[in-house]
Amino acid sequence: MSASKLSAAVCGQRLWQRHMEMGAIGATPRGGVNRLALTAEDAAAQATLAGWARQRGYAVTRDEIGNVYVRRAGTDATAAPVLTGSHLDSQPTGGKFDGAYGVLAGLEVLEALDDAGISTLRPVEVAAWMNEEGSRFLPGAMGSGVLAGAFTLESALARVDSQGLTVAAALAEVLSRTPLPRRELASVKPFAYLEAHIEQGPLLEANAATIGVVTGIQGIRRFVVEIAGEEAHAGTTPRANRRDAMVTAIAMISALQAATCDPEDRIRFTVGRMHVLPNSPNTIPAQVTFTIDLRHPDGVLLESLSAGIHALAAQTAALHHCSAMVQNVSVVQPVHFPAPMVGVVRRAAAAEGGKIMSFPSGAGHDAMYLHRLCPAAMVFVPCLRGISHNEAESATTADLAAGTRVLARAVLELAGHP
Ligand code: HGY
Ligand code: MN
Ligand code: MN
Repeated sequence: MSASKLSAAVCGQRLWQRHMEMGAIGATPRGGVNRLALTAEDAAAQATLAGWARQRGYAVTRDEIGNVYVRRAGTDATAAPVLTGSHLDSQPTGGKFDGAYGVLAGLEVLEALDDAGISTLRPVEVAAWMNEEGSRFLPGAMGSGVLAGAFTLESALARVDSQGLTVAAALAEVLSRTPLPRRELASVKPFAYLEAHIEQGPLLEANAATIGVVTGIQGIRRFVVEIAGEEAHAGTTPRANRRDAMVTAIAMISALQAATCDPEDRIRFTVGRMHVLPNSPNTIPAQVTFTIDLRHPDGVLLESLSAGIHALAAQTAALHHCSAMVQNVSVVQPVHFPAPMVGVVRRAAAAEGGKIMSFPSGAGHDAMYLHRLCPAAMVFVPCLRGISHNEAESATTADLAAGTRVLARAVLELAGHP
């Protein structure tokens, strides 16, 4: 009875309107968002979330690494909370829904609980995880990773962006723009975690399914490769004398692309960023630094591919009289969500009706780290043509609301009734 009442209290229009208001923060001319972690735009997004939360009397706090929490009290204040959420930071040419949906769907669940007059035994909290995207500061999912112990707080605070600014300095700037009561990381001990997210892929839409019951997340390994050669004059230096870091990088990336080409097309190999020094048209590049993002559902295969990257980098560099250093930035093993948690989401989706699909996530999410702290699971909704990390990212009010109703039912089952 309460679950149906809660589901009916989810307001798609309010949810959509919140996405449009949040999407105006860091809006890009082509309809997307540029809201990099710990920028003024990120701080403004946190302030907007805090404003909506405080209108309802929810407590808003921030922990030492910058994760923000919105808390709706339960009848048992000592009970470990049910936690939901996602992230408010975006890619530089990101969309309005990646991350924001999980945070705003979580807020919508709290408000629907209020509107339906439902008390829960456990408190329910919504998290906006710091730096999930990892675009400005590597590695991604930094805030949830520190909470789960994947990275130390000190090492995360010391990470720098391309301008040499540390996370600590950028975070201090956010704290001054959007001050929030402080919460200790050690106090965050969730009972269970649920994350709603757009699929960021084509499966749901291609199968005319409304809800994705997510079974896990594929493994991700991230590297930074630095190739060192020697500056020389573009006009006078014979090919035989060159130690050209750019030619070496191109050869290395081509070789790695070939080595990660599998017939099932399941290995995901991406070079998304490259810096060239001195970056002058008539000087032979002395240093090229590029990132590698490597993913696969099989952790053992991922491990062997990773060893191959180190070997191939060394061989290719030697062949072109350069040197190569491969830094392992982060390793996230494939995650399989616990069957009982997947069952909670599946039951909630079945109660709502609509076509359901079950599959692992190709994209990384904060749930991959929360999984280390408590039972976790995710619910997906479709996005237009499966496009994401792109300003054209889009979703419908109906799908966003349908996913939120599933999230609401799952949260209620876990939070319990007094
Ligand atoms: O990279 C990812 O998978 C996530 O969307 N940041
Ligand atoms: Mn995301
Ligand atoms: Mn993303």
